[in-house]
Amino acid sequence: MTAPAHRASPAAWWARHTVESMSESASQLTDIATRDDVERLVRAFYTKALSDPIIGFIFTDVAHLDVEAHVPEITSFWETVLLGAKSYSGGAFRPHAELHAKVHLREGHFERWLQLWFGTVDEMFKGEVAGQAKVHALRVAHAFLRRLDGMPSPITPAPIMPTGLAITQMPGAGD
Ligand code: HEM
Ligand code: HEM
Repeated sequence: MTAPAHRASPAAWWARHTVESMSESASQLTDIATRDDVERLVRAFYTKALSDPIIGFIFTDVAHLDVEAHVPEITSFWETVLLGAKSYSGGAFRPHAELHAKVHLREGHFERWLQLWFGTVDEMFKGEVAGQAKVHALRVAHAFLRRLDGMPSPITPAPIMPTGLAITQMPGAGD
């Protein structure tokens, strides 16, 4: 005699149920449509970026970023890029050149930045504008990196990882 499916394998039932509800919530994601959407995305990104073991220290220890002051500016940047607003007046590169003068911004830092940005976009939104948020970030990151190359930056200490990146903050530290 065979047992009912859920009794035969509760773990399999649970796994299937969980996968179904996850894909259901993924299919319910909508596209970025308003400034409020952009602001939620930006806030979620900075929550990750500031506590990130690889790039977090640049925001907290090098730039001493005031997130509340920064969020409206960065929201305006993305609202201008993605929603055709004219709320950002440009000049995004300069603060990065100033940062680069304090800490060598490497390709790996930009890769990490993009990884966090792509991950946040994909968790929260789905659609053409969300795709543009990823594409444009990639373009800007490449352009920044190219422009920074050859600009003055401090001599960095010997790399401690093959990537040349150093872990400066452990997950959960400072909670
Ligand atoms: C609706 C279309 C677009 C809008 C509204 C837009 C908007 C912007 C804005 C506001 C910036 C920041 C500029 C600054 O801070 O001075 C920027 C930077 C940039 N955009 Fe776009 N963009 C658009 C399309 C594109 C396309 C189609 C490309 C390439 C094919 C592109 C490539 C770049 C690059 C490379 C940068 C960084 C430039 C740098 O500072 O080195 N953008 N964009
Ligand atoms: C390693 C990668 C990056 C790091 C560590 C970084 C860090 C920072 C920091 C600390 C600031 C604030 C600077 C200040 O106000 O003094 C800033 C500003 C900003 N960042 Fe980045 N950033 C990175 C990459 C990017 C990329 C790829 C983009 C665009 C797609 C971007 C867009 C901006 C914009 C729009 C601002 C505001 C500029 C303004 O005040 O007008 N950043 N970034």
